Amino acid sequence: MKNEKIKLLINDIGTNGEGVANKDGVTYFVPFCLPKEEVEATVTFKKGNVAQAKLEKIVKSVNGRCQAACKNFTLCGGCQLQHMNYCAQVSFKREKVKKNLKKIGGVDFDVNECVPSDKSFGYRNKLQIPVRKIGSKAVCGFFQSGSHKLVPVTHCPLQDEWADKVLKCVVDFVNENDIAVYDEVKKTGLVRHVVARYVENQLLLTVVINGDELTLWQKLKQKLDENFDRYGLFVNINKKHDNVILGNKTLHLCGLKHIQGDCLGVKFCLQPDSFFQINDFIRDKIYADAISLLDTSDCDIIVDAFSGVGILSGVLCKSGKQVFGIEIVKAAVEDADNLKKINNLKNLINICGDVNVELKNLCEKNSGKKIALVVDPPRKGLGQPTIEAILQAKPQNIVYISCDSATLSRDIKALSKVYEIKHCTPYDMFPQTDNVETLVVLKKIDE
Ligand SMILES: C[S@@+](CC[C@H](N)C(=O)[O-])C[C@H]1O[C@@H](n2cnc3c(N)ncnc32)[C@H](O)[C@@H]1O
Repeated sequence: MKNEKIKLLINDIGTNGEGVANKDGVTYFVPFCLPKEEVEATVTFKKGNVAQAKLEKIVKSVNGRCQAACKNFTLCGGCQLQHMNYCAQVSFKREKVKKNLKKIGGVDFDVNECVPSDKSFGYRNKLQIPVRKIGSKAVCGFFQSGSHKLVPVTHCPLQDEWADKVLKCVVDFVNENDIAVYDEVKKTGLVRHVVARYVENQLLLTVVINGDELTLWQKLKQKLDENFDRYGLFVNINKKHDNVILGNKTLHLCGLKHIQGDCLGVKFCLQPDSFFQINDFIRDKIYADAISLLDTSDCDIIVDAFSGVGILSGVLCKSGKQVFGIEIVKAAVEDADNLKKINNLKNLINICGDVNVELKNLCEKNSGKKIALVVDPPRKGLGQPTIEAILQAKPQNIVYISCDSATLSRDIKALSKVYEIKHCTPYDMFPQTDNVETLVVLKKIDE
């Protein structure tokens, strides 16, 4: 019954990190609990023999529980695991990948230990946060899980000090200049979101606005000058009233046009609209493992599908083989072309387009050649045309990097007539959250 108070013994952990309990034939999902804990909870939803419940009190806790670092934990919807010590988080992520591979992928595979992040707090190089008005003041904050209620935030422990400074600069600037703040119900107001990236001591700050007002933001420069040595300021125009954060137009106002960095000996460029892995404290380990696990000894060409700014493509060029990168975002392909130029990579071709179309074209143009393939898709995984192109071209081996082990497992199943899984390592790209990055090696089954 809804609102019923209930005592539960947690006996398992779900794939979103929530506690799972069984009582009187009903399965209860209770966020922020650990296996073997005894808890009191309130039922918030029940249908048939499945229920959701809200944790009220921990009657008996277990080793593995720790004090959350953030006062907004359980409120803001960003973290699911701050109640779990880091060692327990890393074991949970390995089990999550194992469970998904078995349940969704139909393979019972011996998954390696999850590789921890060198930093479990302050690791994010990206900040993306809405600006709204509470009372008469502009504030930044995160939406409560499943709601549009803003939890004001001045410091998020997943971010480092640079992010606090960015938030303060923008919020103070908006309040001091009485700039109208976006109201998603009335669909009025100017400033919507703050999006920022901080890599190798360089900041790219983008203010997302519902309008065309550009000159106003030039004055933000003064505050940024006081806090950052190397930064670029951008405005993104988004006049659509949906929940997509960025609009199609990003304009450079002043300072850096892109971040420049070095990863595994490859110099890269990064514009604000390009994808970049969000954790600097594990990224290079994943790339290094991907490179060493992709067998390129016997291939004629290497394809890096979903290539972003081209870091993996760049490192793969060291093999001396012809490398193709495929990426849909124009700014990212510009960055990848820049990477090609500054690293003098004659054997790299960057293709701007949809992997669902371009992979098939590329395989057809290179039919008869042996292909080694890297895929690193967004959360939704591989599209059906990509699966078909792979099954048709049959690359010798595939390294699949995934940020969603459920869609990874689905894709492994779809490829399983031709490919078997040979290696699987999870990496903790997203500490304190239930997300996990996974690297899988697939080998063609001998015919
Ligand atoms: C998870 S990121 C990986 C990027 C890169 N491998 C890296 O490590 O930085 C996925 C990338 O795929 C791109 N992308 C998404 N859908 C795509 C599609 N249908 N075709 C080509 N690229 C796509 C995104 O823009 C993004 O750069």
